[in-house]
Amino acid sequence: MLFKYLYTTTRFYSGSVGKVRAQKYVLTKYFQGEPKKSDFKIVEEELPELKDGEILTEAQYLSVDPYMRAYMIGYKLPTDMIGGQIAKIIASRNKNFPVGKYVTASFGWRTHTVCNPEEPPSLGFLPLTLVPEVKPHPVSLALGVLGMPGNTAYFGLKEICRPKAGETIAITGAAGAVGSHVGQIAKILGCRVIGFAGTDEKCQYLKEIGFDHAFNYKTADIRAALKEGAPKRVDCYFDNVGGEISSTIINFMNKNGRVAVCGSISSYNDNMLPKATILQPALVFKELQIEGFLVNRWIDRWEEGVNANLNWLHEGKLQYKEKIYHGFDNMVEALVGILRGENTGKAVVKVK
Ligand SMILES: NC(=O)c1ccc[n+]([C@@H]2O[C@H](COP(=O)([O-])OP(=O)(O)OC[C@H]3O[C@@H](n4cnc5c(N)ncnc54)[C@H](OP(=O)(O)O)[C@@H]3O)[C@@H](O)[C@H]2O)c1
Repeated sequence: MLFKYLYTTTRFYSGSVGKVRAQKYVLTKYFQGEPKKSDFKIVEEELPELKDGEILTEAQYLSVDPYMRAYMIGYKLPTDMIGGQIAKIIASRNKNFPVGKYVTASFGWRTHTVCNPEEPPSLGFLPLTLVPEVKPHPVSLALGVLGMPGNTAYFGLKEICRPKAGETIAITGAAGAVGSHVGQIAKILGCRVIGFAGTDEKCQYLKEIGFDHAFNYKTADIRAALKEGAPKRVDCYFDNVGGEISSTIINFMNKNGRVAVCGSISSYNDNMLPKATILQPALVFKELQIEGFLVNRWIDRWEEGVNANLNWLHEGKLQYKEKIYHGFDNMVEALVGILRGENTGKAVVKVK
């Protein structure tokens, strides 16, 4: 169960840590190509004493996600770096958030945070929630299969692709946090699943977790791969990458097919948007439905997604991999790592 915050005015205090200095990443230059350490400076700040209702948290795992590369252009510089984290409550004046519990929240790339859970600072996608009991699995899953990527997979697939048993779904970025999860839910729902990922090892992993076919998009002929993997063509496409591969897949779809446009990582590091084959003929003649989405559209149903994924996890129907980077100083390396495809499954940075 995921316990959402319930506000209380009761006076409560636990944990005493004295004055705490937090470190945080501040973006001082817009990214050009791959993110660089020199685009940031690390700043220290002294945190205020806790007021009634507030908590002090210490980051344990910070998330690195592709959207971080894409979004920062929308912020005025200098700005605190956005992002989700799992943090341990180390002092509390809020009964509902006792010391020792873990929360996920969009605190950004910072080590310590003071906040009122009712009005958390929001530097990203995540609502502030207590992490559910996940043992024997690691708490870091709250940034992956039990967090934002898990809900992206759950709602994007169910609400936008709307797959029916027996249909064929194609997934790009298939070995990543979202893609590997989408494929497994689609299998649970009775679909034929084909995935595209960037190495043979990733494709092997996808077959191990139940994908019917997986192709290395860097070496395969995409159309030939589609003919082999989807002999009845594609009914649903979960698009994580954009670009030409997406045009090829969309042109290989069946009438009334559904496309969930989740992201376009193939161009996040590019200054000029690439051109790709037009989609209009396929959209018109096959009457396709193509819809972009942001996962926070389902913020009011957040628990539903987490609980569904948690149940599948407990039932052994959902498998996961994590790529764990280490150290607060290595945030930029980790972000660059996912953009280069170093990860299979969810990438997180263990900072404590
Ligand atoms: N709409 C939303 O609300 C929402 C929420 C979460 C994520 N997203 C989007 O979903 C996508 C996947 O996110 P994620 O968190 O699951 O990341 P991820 O897939 O775990 O990590 C990124 C992966 O992208 C692949 N990649 C990198 N460059 C590529 C390129 N040029 N062409 C094709 N693939 C490339 C790499 O795998 P390979 O080795 O296979 O290349 C890399 O491992 C991203 O586009 C992200 O922005 C959207």
